[in-house]
Amino acid sequence: MITLTKNTVRALVAACALTVSAGGAMAAGGGKHFEKQDWSFSGPLGKYDKAQLQRGFQVYKEVCSSCHSLEYIAFRNLGEDGALGYNPDQIKALAAEYEVEDGPDDEGEMFTRAAKPFDTFPSPYPNVQAAKSANGGAYPPDLSLIAKARAGSMGPDTGIEPLTDLVRMVWHTVTAYQEYGPDYLYALLTGYEEAPEGVDVGDLNYNPNFIAGNALAMAPPLDDELVEYTDGSPMTKEQYAKDVSAFLMWAAEPKLEQRKRVGVNALIFLVIFAGLLYFTKKRVWSDVDH
Ligand code: HEC
Repeated sequence: MITLTKNTVRALVAACALTVSAGGAMAAGGGKHFEKQDWSFSGPLGKYDKAQLQRGFQVYKEVCSSCHSLEYIAFRNLGEDGALGYNPDQIKALAAEYEVEDGPDDEGEMFTRAAKPFDTFPSPYPNVQAAKSANGGAYPPDLSLIAKARAGSMGPDTGIEPLTDLVRMVWHTVTAYQEYGPDYLYALLTGYEEAPEGVDVGDLNYNPNFIAGNALAMAPPLDDELVEYTDGSPMTKEQYAKDVSAFLMWAAEPKLEQRKRVGVNALIFLVIFAGLLYFTKKRVWSDVDH
């Protein structure tokens, strides 16, 4: 009888442990965690750093845009409130550097023209097949929303498994941690390594931080001294990765600053309103005998 009870307890404990570790693994996106970075835009009062967004855009433009589109971002978005701080003339000049397809004209023909501020960043490839065939069969995804698309189920590295994953997930839900996306992008762009002994990745490139495996078709896109910065920021792979990740966070969430402002204002309003209610209540009930 006693052994049976013991076994039952053991089975229960094992079942609980399994549930917790499964939950932990799911919360952690298959067990990959990425180091938390310092972002100017984190926290309730966070804001984008305009100079950083401009550098990140420069990295996108000079490096990533040869393979990745940004098809939900129009040139004029770069000049909007909370964005990169470009003025209308700068936006016009920037758009004019690109060609887009337009039409059909009066004869029914499509034609190309210089881009205008309302156009979106054109894809570097005419179609998906062309993009795949230029990249060994892998499609370089559009980057407009990637910082959000990869933000769902990850967390920064604590090194301790798996119960802390669950606690951490709850903690990040409570504190509304929103920077998993850029943390991942930074980790991916700086995570390329030599494949370990005995691991054959074929034509792929070894990168243990890639979310869907340990190797991907994208060759390491960044290297020190690759992009010429003019504001004195370090011209290192890490700095480029950080800046372009911040820029891609902006692309995925251009209204972040406005959203945070509304949140803080709502809080201030609630505090004042609660105070007013308190004094009203005191007054209304002041001449009622206890
Ligand atoms: C030479 C072409 C090329 C360049 C340049 C390039 N990429 Fe990629 N990228 C790819 C391809 C191809 C894939 C798809 C990889 C795969 O699925 O195996 C990819 C995938 C990605 C992904 C998706 C990873 C995921 O989690 O699925 C991100 C993010 C990304 N690239 C960011 C960048 C950034 C940022 C730059 C510029 C610093 C850049 N890429 C430059 C070709 C490129």
